[in-house]
Amino acid sequence: MPIMEWSSDLDVGVERMNDEHKDILDLMNRISDAAENGQSGPPVIALVDQLAQVTIDHFHDEEAFMASINYEGLTTHKLIHQDLLKKYGEFADLIRADNGQLPHKFLMFLKLWLTAHIKGIDMKYSPKTPLRLAG
Ligand SMILES: [Fe+2]
Ligand SMILES: [Fe+2]
Repeated sequence: MPIMEWSSDLDVGVERMNDEHKDILDLMNRISDAAENGQSGPPVIALVDQLAQVTIDHFHDEEAFMASINYEGLTTHKLIHQDLLKKYGEFADLIRADNGQLPHKFLMFLKLWLTAHIKGIDMKYSPKTPLRLAG
């Protein structure tokens, strides 16, 4: 079962950001499928590394976009991205050390990231959000 399907409540109103979020979502769902099918080993580690890279690239693009619109919550948003990457790195180290076994709490972390970060934090820079709330 996928972690989450794309839906309009993930729409931040910026096409490039939506496309990148869809790529992240797709990789998360592939990782979730791998966990459900009991997969482990190098193919799973490769997926975890791929999601790390796609996420690093996305955060870079998203921060550049926020800077381009002089978004006032940029500094806080960057710190939240750094924190997410740090947590992700810790999980990735664990998964690597455990030969690609995916812990349930990693899947919970991915789901929370989607719901809390995209819907709660990213949505604040959306042109759909009145006043583009800071922070
Ligand atoms: Fe973000
Ligand atoms: Fe984002």
